[in-house]
Amino acid sequence: ASFVQPSSSPHLASEEDEQKYANVNWEELGFGLIPTDYMYVAKCKQGESFSEGKLVPYGDISISPCSGILNYGQGLFEGLKAYRTEDERIMLFRPNQNGLRMQTGADKLCMTSPSEEQFVKAIKKTVLANKKWVPPPGKGTLYIRPLLIGSGAVLGIASAPEFTFLIYVSPVGIYQQTSSGLNLKVDHQHRRAHSGGTGCVKSCTNYSPVVKKMQEAKALGFSDVLFLDAATGRNIEEVSTCNIFIVKGNVVSTPLTSGTILPGITRKSITELARDLGYQVQERDISVDELLEAEEVFCTGTAVVVQAVETMTFHDKKVKYMMGEETLSTKLHSMLTSIQKGLVEDTKGWMVEI
Ligand code: COI
Repeated sequence: ASFVQPSSSPHLASEEDEQKYANVNWEELGFGLIPTDYMYVAKCKQGESFSEGKLVPYGDISISPCSGILNYGQGLFEGLKAYRTEDERIMLFRPNQNGLRMQTGADKLCMTSPSEEQFVKAIKKTVLANKKWVPPPGKGTLYIRPLLIGSGAVLGIASAPEFTFLIYVSPVGIYQQTSSGLNLKVDHQHRRAHSGGTGCVKSCTNYSPVVKKMQEAKALGFSDVLFLDAATGRNIEEVSTCNIFIVKGNVVSTPLTSGTILPGITRKSITELARDLGYQVQERDISVDELLEAEEVFCTGTAVVVQAVETMTFHDKKVKYMMGEETLSTKLHSMLTSIQKGLVEDTKGWMVEI
């Protein structure tokens, strides 16, 4: 693959660039692409390792029609965010965790991945080049989307001869804007992931098959879909874009990451914060019956952060959960975002300043 207008040094802002920036409505950021100035691109031949990539103006890429990603879905993505604090520092949340997860995924999909150090360095470089696009405090975050794709041409089923590591960014607001909580529908037909498959890595191919189910649910007025395990169809696994937690009494439970569930970085952080609050946290199988009997349910993810679930529908049964200021999800959301925005001391060492 070759990329348009490669350049190693940032270009000067043109009038068009200034206009693009001036047109952003920072008060109403949703979760849609707002093109920024630069993206990062690094390439590596199969059997070699990644060397330092470069910043190029954000834009379309040119790629072989025969590439591994286009033909066989050989690709991974990641998602993390940069935050602007009140005192104008730019912070990342646990970027090394995304780097590690990309390595696990690359191994599964037979790709070479950047090292954890290269990953974090590239993220920092990309965010710095797009610094002005990190929303003002309280208005949103800069969503960072790293990709690792098989970009070389491959006709028979095999790993691509060349891999591309690319990072682009976009200012974002809240992922699912609802007036209250999410209204989820349990999908009793489609299975998102199978044991031994790719459910545990951020493979691009895990996401397109859920779009139809999401669309159907949205047409019926739901916010999103919750999938069940493929082996029994009895246990809850994951929502199309995020992990799920249930609360009953002093126990917070979330499905075990045993190969079919994405090991979310927000998920992992939230289990730690819930323990800090004195809750007992269990990672285990959770049946639909238990889900329907929970007092409170919430979702976690980089894009959704921590979002309360207001209703859950399974076949013709619909249950309503606790909502509001007193809920655990409200407390956890506040604890997590206070750390991310630099409003409280980061005693966990989660934040990385750029
Ligand atoms: C994220 O939360 O970063 C994700 O990757 C979910 C995405 C599919 C929007």
